[in-house]
Amino acid sequence: MPEPAKISVLLKEGRRFKPLPEFSRRAHVNSRAALERLRRQAARDPEGFWAAQARSLEWIKPWRKTLDWRPPRARWFLGGRLNVSANCLDRHLAGPLRQKAALIWEGEPGEVRTFTYQQLHGEVCRFANVLKSLGVRRGDRVAIYMPMIPEAAVAMLACARIGAPHSVVFAGFSAEALRDRINDAAAKLVVTADGGWRRGNVVRLKDAVDAAVAQAPTIEHVVVVKRAGCEVAWQPGRDVWWQEAMAVASAACPASPLDSEHPLFILYTSGSTGKPKGVLHTQAGYLLQARLTMEWVFDLKPEDLFWCTADVGWVTGHSYVVYGPLAAGATILMYEGAPLHPGPDRFWSMIERHKVTIFYTAPTAIRAFMRLGPEPARRHDLSCLRLLGTVGEPINPEAWLWYHKVIGNGRCPIVDTWWQTETGAIMIAPVPGATPTKPGSATLPLPGIEADVVDRDGRPVPAGTGGFLVVKRPWPSMLRGIYGDPSRYAAQYFSQVSSPGSCARGERRTPYYFTGDGARRDEDGYFWMLGRIDDVLNVAGHRLSTMEIESALVSHPSVAEAAVVGRPDEVLGQAVTAFVTPRVGVQACENLKDDLRQHVARAIGAIAKPADIRFTEALPKTRSGKIMRRLLRELAAGGSVRGDVTTLEDLSVLARLQSDEE
Ligand code: PRX
Repeated sequence: MPEPAKISVLLKEGRRFKPLPEFSRRAHVNSRAALERLRRQAARDPEGFWAAQARSLEWIKPWRKTLDWRPPRARWFLGGRLNVSANCLDRHLAGPLRQKAALIWEGEPGEVRTFTYQQLHGEVCRFANVLKSLGVRRGDRVAIYMPMIPEAAVAMLACARIGAPHSVVFAGFSAEALRDRINDAAAKLVVTADGGWRRGNVVRLKDAVDAAVAQAPTIEHVVVVKRAGCEVAWQPGRDVWWQEAMAVASAACPASPLDSEHPLFILYTSGSTGKPKGVLHTQAGYLLQARLTMEWVFDLKPEDLFWCTADVGWVTGHSYVVYGPLAAGATILMYEGAPLHPGPDRFWSMIERHKVTIFYTAPTAIRAFMRLGPEPARRHDLSCLRLLGTVGEPINPEAWLWYHKVIGNGRCPIVDTWWQTETGAIMIAPVPGATPTKPGSATLPLPGIEADVVDRDGRPVPAGTGGFLVVKRPWPSMLRGIYGDPSRYAAQYFSQVSSPGSCARGERRTPYYFTGDGARRDEDGYFWMLGRIDDVLNVAGHRLSTMEIESALVSHPSVAEAAVVGRPDEVLGQAVTAFVTPRVGVQACENLKDDLRQHVARAIGAIAKPADIRFTEALPKTRSGKIMRRLLRELAAGGSVRGDVTTLEDLSVLARLQSDEE
């Protein structure tokens, strides 16, 4: 971990955009004063504030105690009972939302399906009954490995209905990655599809599931949606067609009354070791913030059509494709395929045809569109849009301004939302009717979120100085643990930085939540994210661990040692660069590079394939044997090594790597 003082601060961006009066007039939070009021209430009495907000959920049994905080363990709304799927569906059926579209879906080949709240409720109840009939009980884990089709949302909500925590695994991950995640959670059942459409091709998912399940002894059944129509292998007794099971399932399934702290889902994400972490979220606190941010940050109105382009395999797809918008009674748009298929204007054509009003995507997508120029967007009438959002990585001011001008036609506020798998919901973001924005800054923490930028001793750093981004108090949608690994949870998130004070003087030091991100605040207190300070890469908004890719590389028979770093990339944000030492006698050649790329894709997934592989006889190491990643990062970025090299054991290694560069 670098010293905060060494976190470089390069960005300087002076422009500022005030909320437009016509937007503020209609907004849920319509002025700076109103937002400040909320912030003050939350600061004065955080528990009272969250308790008041939590009344907006539908409870089966009210809670007794708002918060039990025994660091690192937090529990919220103790003693309460509710059901997340009932909050997303049943509660809307009594009024006018019953016939409102809950989900509009477009497949990559172009077909459109629409589900009203009533219809979605029926599907979810039916699938909950299918799960029960296949032996899934409260507490059992269900893995979901699916394309972006409505059935993915139905499966998630059906799990929530019966209290079976789901573990959605991004369908771009390999069979091996799926197997490891199934085994870590000891899942009982997998829901998948024969295949899904991507760039005009069928991605065969059932094959991957078959390979994974062959080494996953806890799996009893595989439920398969017929989506792509491709041939699949079939294991009678184990495998079940979704459509056949649904045809005979009842549409009546009471929502299970679940404790506020009952697990809702596990979602694997990369940390700074080779083993992905199963981030655990529970019911009430998670749902509360997912729903509330729909109002605060997206300013959701009954007539909005909300499109979050994330895949359900990532946390954004959990909180802002499924749970948040449905709990808020929104109409969501869901799209199966690739952004540039069949042409560069697919997204813009969808926005125009469906009349999307709120569009939420990743900076990497915006940069890819920017490269294509404004013409594909100009072919379409995007005047239906009223709010734009970004998430997943820092957005460079240039991309922000392009998004604002070309997509938003200068009329739409942009909400740059900072959050993480672990935080469950948006934490730092503009409230669009109230917060002036600055391109490149996620602006300020939401009410009730006590984020700050501090040094190693927990002291806030002065304006303009880089430091560690921390959250000082627990918040309702925070992760509750790492599945099956409480000590890693404590070590990773709550043992790095504490409130300042001296234990010797008897001052109590409370641990802060450590985000793993560097940040700085400017003179207005605005937050500017500086990226990860641990060994986590952010490639196209997806989190990858350098160690995970390294262990995939060294599992190849030709590799003796490998080190992986990120280098800046104009579109992806970061690109994976691997320095590889082949085993003695192995010919370092282009074929081996291709082979290693395929090997990483098999072990993790195509997203982790190194963009560059550089062979080296040895890696630069300290005298104690630690790989000096900082040097490799500087080399990967194409520059020469300028930093301190005095701890390097063998300078000639560096000299050779540098001469390769020239
Ligand atoms: O480094 C931050 C970056 O993405 C990380 C979280 O990744 P993940 O858990 O996969 O969740 C992504 C979607 C919520 C953070 O630690 N990040 C996310 N949003 C932003 C961001 N960096 C800068 N600005 C953002 N708006």
